Amino acid sequence: MESLSGLKVVMTPKAVVTAATGGIGLHTALGLTRAGYAVTVVGRNPERGAQAVEKINAEAGEPARFLQADLASLDQVRALAATIAAEGELDLLVNNVGAMYPDHTELDGVEATFVVNHLSPYLLTELLLPVITRRIVNVTSSAVIVAKKTFDTVEPPGGYYGFHWYGRAKLANLTYTLDLAQRLRARGSGITVLAADPGGADTDMTDGSSRTPQIVSPALRLFWPLVLRTFQRATSRPAALAAQPSLRAATDDTLPTGTVIGRHSTPVTPTKTATDPRTVHAVRALSEKHAPLHRVTDEVSN
Ligand SMILES: NC(=O)c1ccc[n+]([C@@H]2O[C@H](COP(=O)([O-])OP(=O)(O)OC[C@H]3O[C@@H](n4cnc5c(N)ncnc54)[C@H](OP(=O)(O)O)[C@@H]3O)[C@@H](O)[C@H]2O)c1
Repeated sequence: MESLSGLKVVMTPKAVVTAATGGIGLHTALGLTRAGYAVTVVGRNPERGAQAVEKINAEAGEPARFLQADLASLDQVRALAATIAAEGELDLLVNNVGAMYPDHTELDGVEATFVVNHLSPYLLTELLLPVITRRIVNVTSSAVIVAKKTFDTVEPPGGYYGFHWYGRAKLANLTYTLDLAQRLRARGSGITVLAADPGGADTDMTDGSSRTPQIVSPALRLFWPLVLRTFQRATSRPAALAAQPSLRAATDDTLPTGTVIGRHSTPVTPTKTATDPRTVHAVRALSEKHAPLHRVTDEVSN
C-alpha cells in the first residue's frame, strides 16, 4: 500500500484460526504468529483463550487476540463471521475445528459430527468469502477413507459409529474444499483454497473420544484391542508436529489452489470420492439446506 508521503506502508497480514486455544490449532496459531500474522484465536472457553493468547504473545510477533464462539452452534458461527467481516479484509482463514462424538448427538436437530466438522466451517467460510483476500485452509483427516460415501441425507443409513461418521463429515468438508477451490479459480478470485491433514496427534480430541469400541463398526469391534493400539500409535505425535501440514498449506505460496497437504507436510492425492460430481452436488445441496447463509428469520425481517 502506498501512503500519501510516498512511503510504502506494510500491513500486517491477519489470520483467523478456529479451535485454537489448544491442540493442533494452538500450534497452528503459534506458527502463524512466527510467520508474521496477527492471529485471532477462536474457541469456546475464555480462560483457555486468555492462556492461549498469553502463550502466543510471549513469542515476539504481532499480538494475538481471542474471540469466543462455540462452533457447534451455527448461530454463533454467523455471529463470529459478522464480527470478523465488519473489520474488513482477512488474509487467511484456517478452519481447524473438528470433533468426534462417541454417541449419536444432535445440535439444533442436525447430527453433531456433520455440524462441527462440515457445516460450521462451510458456513464460516461462505460468510467470510467477501473479506478473505488470500487463502483458506480446511483441516481434514485420513478418517475420510472409512466414510460411508453417500450424501443423500445428513445421516447415512445404518447404525451410528462415531469414527466412521467423523470420517464422513470430514469427507463432506474435503469435497466442499476442492469444489470451492475450483469455483474460485473459475471466477479468477485469486484466493487459494487448500486442505491439510494433521495425520494424528495426542490432543484432547483423541484422548477424549477415541477410547471406546462403540466409535467403530461392529466388524471392527471384534478386533478392538488391535484397533485401539492402531489409534494410539497413530495419535501419539505431539500437536506441534501435527500442525505442520496446516502451516505449510497456510504459508507456502507456491502451492496451487486445490492442493491437499498430507501428514508429512507434502501434497497428496485426495480420495477420488471427494471430486466425484455426485458427491460434490450432494454435499453442496446438504450444505445449502442445513447451513443457509441467511436465516429464515433474516429473510422475513429484511
Ligand atoms: N488429533 C488428531 O489425531 C487429528 C487427526 C486428524 C485430523 N484432526 C483434526 O485436526 C483438527 C484439530 O484437532 P485437535 O486434535 O487439535 O482437536 P482438539 O484437541 O479437540 O482441539 C482443541 C481445541 O478445539 C477447540 N474447540 C473444540 N470444540 C470447539 C467448538 N465447538 N467451538 C470452538 N472451539 C472448539 C477447543 O477450544 P475450547 O476448549 O476453548 O472450546 C480447543 O481450542 C480437527 O479438525 C480434527 O478433526 C485431528
